[in-house]
Amino acid sequence: MCHLFLRPLGSSSDGSGANRLDLTGGGGGNWTIVTKTSSFSAPRGVPDYVPPGSAEFVAVRDGLVHAARLAGYGHIELPVFEQTALFARGVGESTDVVSKEMWTFADRKGESFTLRPEGTAGVMRAVIEHGLDKSGQLPLKLCYAGPFFRYERPQAGRYRQLQQVGIEAIGVDDPALDAEVIAIADAGYRSLGLDGFRLEITSLGDETCRPQYRELLQDFLFGLPLDEETKRRAQINPLRVLDDKRPEVRELTADAPLMIDHLSESAKTHFEQVLGHLDALGVPYVLNPRMVRGLDYYTKTTFEFVHDQLGAQSGIGGGGRYDGLMAELGGQPLSGIGFGLGVDRTVLALQAEGKSAGVSSRCEVFGVPLGDAAKQRLVVLAAQLRGAGIRVDLAYGGRGVKGAMKAADRSGARFTVVLGDRDLAENSIAVKDMATGDQRHVPLSEVVGVLREALIAGH
Ligand code: HAM
Repeated sequence: MCHLFLRPLGSSSDGSGANRLDLTGGGGGNWTIVTKTSSFSAPRGVPDYVPPGSAEFVAVRDGLVHAARLAGYGHIELPVFEQTALFARGVGESTDVVSKEMWTFADRKGESFTLRPEGTAGVMRAVIEHGLDKSGQLPLKLCYAGPFFRYERPQAGRYRQLQQVGIEAIGVDDPALDAEVIAIADAGYRSLGLDGFRLEITSLGDETCRPQYRELLQDFLFGLPLDEETKRRAQINPLRVLDDKRPEVRELTADAPLMIDHLSESAKTHFEQVLGHLDALGVPYVLNPRMVRGLDYYTKTTFEFVHDQLGAQSGIGGGGRYDGLMAELGGQPLSGIGFGLGVDRTVLALQAEGKSAGVSSRCEVFGVPLGDAAKQRLVVLAAQLRGAGIRVDLAYGGRGVKGAMKAADRSGARFTVVLGDRDLAENSIAVKDMATGDQRHVPLSEVVGVLREALIAGH
């Protein structure tokens, strides 16, 4: 059999011996159609989450969302693709995210769309489009979770489809709100049991001190013996040069002027107040005045959560203020602050710490029928137990008692209920405690209540 699928041009080979047919200019737009005769695999750099590990993924995502819910952030669900210009304008043309990592495609009419590389620009677009900022209730607090797409070189913890939980608080420039956003992330991680991370924080200044600092930094950088490429970067986005990981550049820029030392009075006061709130909240942080985020919209408070056991991809979450973004995208000049927490990397960080986010077993009760009549009754009992909020699975497929009991073991259930023809005639059922091995008979009419109480007592 021959399968057809689409792969963006320029993507690297998947090593399957796929036979590529380049349709560029032939109606295929920006795409290559790949014919493939071997079996399918997930796109390179895109993780699958399958049971049982997927339960950990869900627990992490939901735990991080829950922390935001507790502070009144309402859910926002947005398209996974938007007009390309939204990201170019919102995130910044000179960023790696926009210039190198976007999954961009033309629709059938030739309009350019991009799979969202991040969430903030899309949230701003929706807020402006739906006039959410005009409700009179500011700050507008929004929370989202889902996949984002960056064409990065895949490696451990760096994926081409990544998952984030994000929040955005729009319309109020209050240092206490900055601290709230940061504290939500901190509490979210800790609620999962994670503790081997640190919060790095700095201020990137405001519209009064940023331009002056930019000039100062450029003057400094232009005086250094930098290579052409780095000089070009200094011209377009000098801050990015401070983030250069090459030791020789690090050494050259060791004495570079830092934004934190050139803040305007108001940006300085703002930052001090944010830190004061974090102190009061007991949220530990370290100052990192050389922090550079990969997105251009940041102003004032900017932060990153870093986990040391993750190697090169150590950022488990990050965010900051973006006071000019809404106006840049055609809305009112409202301020904003938010974060994006990496669900994939948080799962990896928990693994690295040897922890699990309190994932429960697949089911609490497992049913083993011995015979057809018993099966019919157990199917009904399973529905009754589920109606009572208990997670139940059954041994399907008519396997023998041994196989069924093995399945019960594997299911991780706390109790196994075994029903045979004789039990049925006596209107009773055997309930086995899988932890102790104890078994007792319970009247069928009472088993739902008995199991419910036993499960509550066991928690
Ligand atoms: P970001 O720092 O680009 O910020 O991404 C946030 C988090 O997403 C990172 O800290 C990391 O954990 C995760 N992440 C990013 N790229 C990858 C990747 N290739 N593979 C795995 N995980 C990844 C933003 O996206 C901003 N929109 C956050 C924000 C919201 N700022 C203000 N509001």
